[in-house]
Amino acid sequence: MTKSTPPSLKPVRTVAELRENLARRRQNGAGIALVPTMGALHEGHLALIRAARAKAAHVVVSIFVNPKQFGPREDYQTYPRDEAGDLAKAEAAGAELAFLPSVAEMYPEGFATTVHLAGPAVGLESDFRPGHFDGVATVVTKLLLQALPDFAFFGEKDYQQLQVVKRLVRDLDIPTEIIAVPTVREPDGLALSSRNLYLSAHERQIAPRLYAVLQKVAGRLQAGHAAAAEIAAGIEELRAGGFDRVDYLALCDAESLAPLAQLDREARLLAAAWLGRTRLIDNILLAPREGLHNLPGRTGM
Ligand code: PAF
Repeated sequence: MTKSTPPSLKPVRTVAELRENLARRRQNGAGIALVPTMGALHEGHLALIRAARAKAAHVVVSIFVNPKQFGPREDYQTYPRDEAGDLAKAEAAGAELAFLPSVAEMYPEGFATTVHLAGPAVGLESDFRPGHFDGVATVVTKLLLQALPDFAFFGEKDYQQLQVVKRLVRDLDIPTEIIAVPTVREPDGLALSSRNLYLSAHERQIAPRLYAVLQKVAGRLQAGHAAAAEIAAGIEELRAGGFDRVDYLALCDAESLAPLAQLDREARLLAAAWLGRTRLIDNILLAPREGLHNLPGRTGM
């Protein structure tokens, strides 16, 4: 099998089937890559699958809308689901196995374990979505232990999630390399997200301002302006530009996600804001001021 002719995709629904199918592929010594998703696949997910395919001979995509990472008033019930469409897209992008477990398969009766992180899981999303990263960390740990992939691929769009996953893999000695893939954007800058489907036509017009404000604030911080004032101005601009609520706009250490008062190391500017009932998140990389001008294109795109 060459990389230019992806194999047809095989759906499996149990951990036993997943392991059996992977064991056969593992025997030939070729690498295995996992792309964890919650389905509703868009170009951002397909970029993960393509990156996985470029790195490993065998790509498994998991599609599981994980109830444990949704809060009681969040969109678990209404989260977009399109299994047939997802399978066709995953196959076209080069995935070979799709793992589609039921909730009972992932969390059988009596399931009692939670993976909880401090460090990068503290603050930002956790302040507004309590328990979210417990759900993410628990399901990602399970998926990694179920598939035991050589590589697992995560998008930079969910930047805090990416840092949480990197940390849990390191802390728990899980022998999988976590690979980050840059955010895929619409031509107007809006980061692709399954939740963009919720936006009305009017909200969709406003939505790209989130990234525009991130770029503007990042530019001013990199030019040496004081962080607190620029962040306050950015929040005001989002509100004036049509966002109903801004959960946060924050400058953080790029790895630990500890809040930063000034741009004195590699940092990330992260934001979450609401348009009607849709919550959008996005982020952008900032280099420490000395090295700025040599890093074209490293803007989280
Ligand atoms: O990013 C997502 O889609 C989910 O949080 C993940 C990593 C698949 C875990 O459910």
